[in-house]
Amino acid sequence: MYIIFLGAPGAGKGTQASDVAQELNLIHIASGDLFRQALEQGTELGIKAESYMERGVLVPDQITIGMVLERISAPDCEGGAILDGFPRNLEQAEALDKALAQQSKAIDKVVYIEVSEEELLKRLSGRWICRQCQTPYHITNSPPKVWGKCDKCGGELYQRPDDTVENIRKRLEVYSVETAPLIDYYARVDKLLEIDGEGGVDEVGGRIIAALHGERL
Ligand code: AP5
Repeated sequence: MYIIFLGAPGAGKGTQASDVAQELNLIHIASGDLFRQALEQGTELGIKAESYMERGVLVPDQITIGMVLERISAPDCEGGAILDGFPRNLEQAEALDKALAQQSKAIDKVVYIEVSEEELLKRLSGRWICRQCQTPYHITNSPPKVWGKCDKCGGELYQRPDDTVENIRKRLEVYSVETAPLIDYYARVDKLLEIDGEGGVDEVGGRIIAALHGERL
């Protein structure tokens, strides 16, 4: 079972994908997290990605596609995965379809989380994430139990350098030009599940699970 989580920056893809992956026993693959981990480790991939991420633009396809396809083909993804933040444009979507088809697999459903721009800005400007396990928190909506420490692994919380107002605006612009066309791409093949992303984390999560169960996944 392969599910894509699609939505604008700050829509709650990471928050929801992590919970749904646990509930459905799937591996959660977040392209942004893979880049940030590579950057923390100082790898060549991380260094290459950094200059794009700090400008709020997409990392080139020749770097991104190989990285994600390699992760999906690892043995732990045999039973399926949730892809969060990938694909991000038509080229990536086509490369993913092709790679899965070569293994007689396909994307089952695409969860599209819709949130107003005003709410996106509030969510991103108050976000803190764990340096170790990447779990996102929010200063008011979902604070950690102990300030500065991750509830799950005790890791240090920090604010992403690309969560500045200027960078968020750039990411939203990139999203509307490059990623939003994927909504039609997946609607045309009847894979799109449109989810209202406004409301509390549990409320939105309940809508996603109900929609996926409605699809008998
Ligand atoms: P990436 O890390 O993928 O960032 P993004 O798409 O901008 O998405 P975010 O992580 O910002 O948001 P999210 O939807 O996961 O929201 P979250 O759950 O954290 O990408 C970063 C960069 O990497 C890109 O700009 C690009 O350079 C590069 N990149 C990554 N993938 C790429 C690709 N495929 N191709 C090329 N380049 C790529 O939630 C946000 C906040 O809201 C949190 O604080 C959370 O606690 C809070 N929150 C969540 N849900 C709710 C709720 N229901 N109510 C209230 N608060 C909530």
